[in-house]
Amino acid sequence: MPRIFSGMRPTGKLHLGHLVGALENWTRFQSEYETIYGIVDWHSLTTGYKDTSRLKEYILEAVIDWISVGIDPNKSIIMLQSLVKEHAELHLLFSMITPTPWLIRNPAVKQQAREMGLIENASDDEMTKIDFGHLGYPVLQTADILVYQADTVPVGEDQIPHIELCREIARRFNFLFSESGFQFPEPQHKLTVTPRLPGVDGSMKMSKSLNNCIYLSDDDATVQSQVRKMVTDPNKVRKNDPGRPEICSVFTYHTVFNKSEVDEIGKNCRSGELGCVACKRNLGEKITTRIDPFRQKRKELADNLDVVEKIIKDGSDKARAIASDTLKQVRRSMNLME
Ligand code: TRP
Repeated sequence: MPRIFSGMRPTGKLHLGHLVGALENWTRFQSEYETIYGIVDWHSLTTGYKDTSRLKEYILEAVIDWISVGIDPNKSIIMLQSLVKEHAELHLLFSMITPTPWLIRNPAVKQQAREMGLIENASDDEMTKIDFGHLGYPVLQTADILVYQADTVPVGEDQIPHIELCREIARRFNFLFSESGFQFPEPQHKLTVTPRLPGVDGSMKMSKSLNNCIYLSDDDATVQSQVRKMVTDPNKVRKNDPGRPEICSVFTYHTVFNKSEVDEIGKNCRSGELGCVACKRNLGEKITTRIDPFRQKRKELADNLDVVEKIIKDGSDKARAIASDTLKQVRRSMNLME
C-alpha cells in the first residue's frame, strides 16, 4: 500500500476548516493507504517559541479532535514529532545538503513570515531576519515525510512549495549518495478539493487568532450564534430583497454542509423569497448535525486524558520503528559510523 504522511501544528481545538480541509480526507485515506499522522510540535516552536505554556494542552486537544472525527489509532499511526527523535536527526543531515537560497526563496515560508509581521516585503534579503529554525521549517517538514519514506502527502495548496522542496532535497540526497543503493521516494502532494471556509467575520479563512471559528467542540447554541455573525450580501437588508449568494459566506457554507438544498437556497436567495435569518438557522442546524456524531467520543477522551496520552506514545513507538530503519540506511549511505 502507498504510504501517507501528513502533519498538523498543535494550535489547540480544531475548527470546521480543519474538518473539511483535512480531517475528513485523512479519515477516508485510512482504507486506501498506510497512514501516519503527526502532531508536529517542533514546527510550532519555529514561530511560537516565546510562549510554550499551553503546548501540551494543544497537543492533547488536537489528538482528541482527530480521534473523535474518525482517525482511528488502530488504522493509522498517530504520532508526536518530538517523541520521535529520528525526525531531528534527519533534519540535521538534510540541513547539510540544502543550499540556503532554496530556503530564502521558499514562497510558503515568505508568506508565513509576512503574515506574522516578521518581514515587510518579499525580498530574499529580508528573509535573513527570520530565525534559523524558522528558515529551516521546510527542511524539518521534509524530514517528517522522508523519515517514513512516504510517497503521498495530503496538504492544502499553500503547502505545495514545501512539498516541492521535499522532492528537491530527496533528489539531491539520492544524487549525492547514490552509491549505497538506497534512494528516497519523491513524494507527491495530494490536494483537497474543498472550498476554503471563510471565517464567521467574513475574512478569508478561519483562524484562531482572529476568533472567527466554529470549533468541532462547540455546542449547538454556540454554533448558532457564530453562524448569526456570518457576513451576507450587504444589499440584502430585508427578507424580500434579492441576494447574491456568490458573495455570501453563509452560501459558501451551504455548498459544503448542505449539498442537497444548496441549489434551492441559491435560487430562493436570489428571488428574495428566502431571508438571511432562516437561511442561517438552517445552516446552523446542518453544521450541528455534521459535528454531533463526534461529541460522544470527544467527551469520552476528554474525560480520560491518560488514554489519549497512551495513544500518542504507542503511535510514536510504532512511528519510531519505521523511522529508525530509515535512519540506519541513511547513516550507511553517508558513511557515518554505526
Ligand atoms: N507545514 C504544515 C502546515 O502548516 C504542517 C506540516 C509539518 C506537515 N510537517 C508536515 C504537513 C509534513 C505535511 C507533511 O500545515
